[in-house]
Amino acid sequence: MNKSSLRRLCNLHEHLIKQHRVIRYKSKTSNDINSFVLYDKYICERRSQSKCSVLVQVSSENSCSDLYSYCSKFGAIKNIFHYQLAGSNHFVLTEFEDQSSVNSLLDQSTHIKDSNVIAVRSPFLWFRSNTSKKISKLSIAGKFNFPFKANQTMIEPNIKDIGLEKLDSLSNQMLLLLECTQLNDIGTRLRFLTAMQIENALKGIFPLSKVLPFGSSVNSFGKIGSDIDLVLMDSQTTENETSRLIFHGKCVSNSRTQIQRNIEILGDLLQLFLPGCSRVKRISQARVPIVKYSQDFVGVECDLAVSNETAVNMSELLYIFGNYDYRVRPLVFTVKMWAKEINLTNDTPGRWITNFSLTLLVLFYLQQEKIIPDIQTLVKQARNNDVRITNEGINCTFLRDVSKLNRVVENNKTLDQLLLGFFEYFASFDFNTNAISLNFGKKINKPEYSALYIVNPLEVHFNVSKNISSEEVERFRIELRNAAWTIDSSLMNTNSFNLLDLFKGFDVSKKSQIIFDIQHQIKNPNRLVTVKDLFDDDSQTHEDTRLNKQLK
Ligand code: CTP
Ligand code: MG
Repeated sequence: MNKSSLRRLCNLHEHLIKQHRVIRYKSKTSNDINSFVLYDKYICERRSQSKCSVLVQVSSENSCSDLYSYCSKFGAIKNIFHYQLAGSNHFVLTEFEDQSSVNSLLDQSTHIKDSNVIAVRSPFLWFRSNTSKKISKLSIAGKFNFPFKANQTMIEPNIKDIGLEKLDSLSNQMLLLLECTQLNDIGTRLRFLTAMQIENALKGIFPLSKVLPFGSSVNSFGKIGSDIDLVLMDSQTTENETSRLIFHGKCVSNSRTQIQRNIEILGDLLQLFLPGCSRVKRISQARVPIVKYSQDFVGVECDLAVSNETAVNMSELLYIFGNYDYRVRPLVFTVKMWAKEINLTNDTPGRWITNFSLTLLVLFYLQQEKIIPDIQTLVKQARNNDVRITNEGINCTFLRDVSKLNRVVENNKTLDQLLLGFFEYFASFDFNTNAISLNFGKKINKPEYSALYIVNPLEVHFNVSKNISSEEVERFRIELRNAAWTIDSSLMNTNSFNLLDLFKGFDVSKKSQIIFDIQHQIKNPNRLVTVKDLFDDDSQTHEDTRLNKQLK
């Protein structure tokens, strides 16, 4: 690491410590939810931002100043960002003060003369180099004369390179991990622009449709490289009863077959006409049919669904919890990173635990700690403007403005205590008989057999983690114990802990033994595999340290 990056890291460290102190201080004395931005307001602001933005591909960073002066002809520029994708393509995201500037820019833009390319109007453009004007080194040097923002990356950093080992306190390492890996401003802007591309393409024929990002792109738990979940849905509009002219419409059923056909058509539209959309796959047989595709200009994978209003409300619920207390997000990020690094989660769907399930488990644990409320409390406190019944008839009514909620119990545990607490809580959780209900904030009896049962908070008859096999649950439990043991013994021996040690997971040489033990346990459910069984020598040391702790 060179000197300047080390200095930047130290500044960030100090900043985080200050921030940490300030937030802790605030959380003790007042409600840190006071600065809470309502989800609808947040989404509305991001959508307006995307309507005022265009994304332009340029040949290199040196074209930025040229592009800036060219775009300025169409109106005042509010923000301009440059980023480069792994494939070395350069892009500039330009936000204007006013949407009319984007309209006139698009009106003035042209299509290339090529009978093989279909002319499409979209916010994705490329900037032709100006051959008549040679750009001299001098004008290149002047490129920072505009409000150019280049410090935000679109590429997820390697956690080994962010300097976790430089920070002593585990809590600060967790905050640094969040700071370096969370979805940043440019990533969020590009996600909303990706949604807007599809919304614009459909506007002529479906004027009331909008395309919204949901899931981790907006629920406050998104990472820089997370996929985008999108949903095409109707805007809530009120009928103008004074108008005597009414559009004719077609009657369609909202049946599954209709949704599947819509998915097929959307897939065709993306594949045949929309720039940047590639590797389109129609997954119409899934419980929620989707189109999967890549948006090459943004460098992300997208899942587009039609009419999944409940998932949008779920994103809002998670957003509320993510912003409820400063400890929620660093804890969720650390647990998700841990699960990713030790291969408990996997990018492809399957019989393993998902990030969504993990997030709900962390939230459930924080409910046990009384750091966040149970959902029932939010439902009871709902006001008239919180009532939401989806088209599918799902009741998604709960208090949205949680700054209005009275906080009774104060829990001042630090992030490191909570991380250890999370691992210990679930390491001894009886997944065989208990289901997890965030609605009651309590464990309940399992309504049916599933290896892991997390009651879907909005569709309470569904299990969010139905996909997970019993082998994976057992592997999860062993890893929880291993993690608790790793942190606990290190804190006791050296009074410090390096988060990277947690992400190393099992020693590969011991893997076959572990699989054997898991299989053995499944056959003999009464005999519990413990860390002691798996690491005979090490766990002896662990037991000794525990004993020492008790003696002290
Ligand atoms: N969802 C749901 N019920 C499920 C799975 C998903 O309601 N059984 C909703 C949640 O709102 C979730 C969203 O769909 O956040 C997107 O699902 P997914 O992409 O699997 O999870 P993310 O939260 O987006 O996490 P990741 O970053 O791993 O994509
Ligand atoms: Mg997602």
